[in-house]
Formats: sequence, C-alpha cells, structure tokens
Amino acid sequence: MTSQLSETGLLSAIDRERLPHHIAVIMDGNGRWAQKRRLPRIAGHRAGMRAVRQGVEACRRLGVPYLTLYAFSVENWKRPQAEVDLLMALLREFLKKEMRQMNRYRIRLRVIGRTRELPKAVQQDLRKAIEATKRNTGLTLSLALNYGARAEIVDALRKLVRKLKRSGKGEVSERAISQALYTRGLPDPDLLIRTSGEMRLSNFLLWQAAYAELWVTDTLWPDFTRRDLYQAVLDYQKRERRYGGLGLS
Ligand code: IPE
Ligand code: IPE
Ligand code: MG
Repeated sequence: MTSQLSETGLLSAIDRERLPHHIAVIMDGNGRWAQKRRLPRIAGHRAGMRAVRQGVEACRRLGVPYLTLYAFSVENWKRPQAEVDLLMALLREFLKKEMRQMNRYRIRLRVIGRTRELPKAVQQDLRKAIEATKRNTGLTLSLALNYGARAEIVDALRKLVRKLKRSGKGEVSERAISQALYTRGLPDPDLLIRTSGEMRLSNFLLWQAAYAELWVTDTLWPDFTRRDLYQAVLDYQKRERRYGGLGLS
C-alpha cells in the first residue's frame, strides 16, 4: 500500500505512541538494481549501502529502538567467490566509514549469525565496532551476517542440551529457546520489511517473526529511502494485530 504523502506528511501521520519496537529488513534486489543499469552486481551492493544509511536514519528520527538488517545469509556463500569477497570488503568499508556517525548518534552495533565462520579480518572489525559502540543507548542496529534461522535454532538447541548435560538443570520452553538464540535480549520484530517484491522469508528470523507484520515493496533495496520506511510504519499502524485472539474491535 502506498500513498502520495510527502516525507514530512508521512512523518506527521505516524503515531509516535504506537511505533514498532523492532523493525527487521530483508534487504533484497541489489543485483537486479545493477542489472537494470547494466552494471556489475557489486555496484548494486555498493548502492545498497546508501539505503542502509537511509533506513538507519529513518529509525533514528522516528525513535524506533531496534533495527535488524539481513546482510548475508548462510546460503549466500553459494554465490561466486568474487561477489562474496566484495561483499565482505564492502562490509569492512561500511564499518570503518560509519563508526563516527554511529557514536555521534549513539547507535549500538550488534551482530547475529555464525560469525565465527566469517573471514578473520571481518570478525576483527566487527569486534572493534561492537566494542566501540557498546555503551551507546540509542538505536540498536543488528547486522545479520552468515545468518540462517534454522542454523540459529540448531545452535540454540545445542546450547540448551549442553547446559542440561553439564548441570542436569534447564528446561525446554519457548522462553529458554528464545534466550538461547543469537537475538537474546532483542524484542521480537513487530514489522518485517522485504524489498524487491519477493514474498518469502529466505530463512530469516523464523522463530522471532512468528507474529511480525509483513510489508513487502517492489522497490529494489538500493532505491529504498527514509520515505519507504515511514510508509511501512504508517501501514503497520493500520494493521490489526490479533495474535490468534479476536482483537479489540
Ligand atoms: C541482496 O541483494 C543483498 C544480498 C543478498 C547480499 P541480492 O544480491 O540478493 O539482489 P538480487 O536479489 O539478485 O536482485
Ligand atoms: C535474502 O536474500 C538474504 C539477504 C538479504 C542477505 P536472497 O537474495 O539471498 O534470498 P533468495 O535467494 O531470493 O531467497
Ligand atoms: Mg536476492
């Protein structure tokens, strides 16, 4: 659903009392964006960095406390080595360039995924960035890197089983599983955005998004702007979340 409202129009239409606490985004369509321009796929990934800034800025301006971005999936290793290498290089460049802004705006960085399988240099840069921003109290920006929801659930269950074997204590419950996931401490996403029109979750936050509102736009990720995020939030506020009950009205 899109409206003709301008950015300021959208901003004033949004009810600040009913913001989603956590927005998660499947940033998709970089390759198609580049293809449309007869550019190499990596040019799309580079352009996608600008869209990341737009999304972060929009959340910051609104006061949404948690934003999670799907940047690299466990399945993305299947891509040509050159594309994977360039994605890793872009990530390092992003961390280096954005550090100052992140501290300026009190953004706290976090990573979810099997990070130990990422290249050593990337791991090091991530550790540095997480350390440098850990006292920030503004937006929590989580990057999903080498992330797969099924892998996450497997890792969580392994953790629970280990604990059980070691101490003989522990339980298998929704709470225990939630706390063993990479997202421990993050609220479940209220709003899940996917760009480029694809209607699937692609192994993203399968557990946490159980009751997330889904919002899909045909806009390709590099073209995504603050305005798109505001539109998504406004549409989200028109939804009735029932959680299996009968709702309020
Ligand atoms: C999303 O864009 C970025 C990553 C998955 C890293 P794609 O690279 O998937 O772009 P399309 O889907 O091929 O257009
Ligand atoms: C999902 O996009 C993963 C990320 C955005 C990082 P993909 O492009 O990898 O997903 P599929 O292949 O279209 O399902
Ligand atoms: Mg894609």
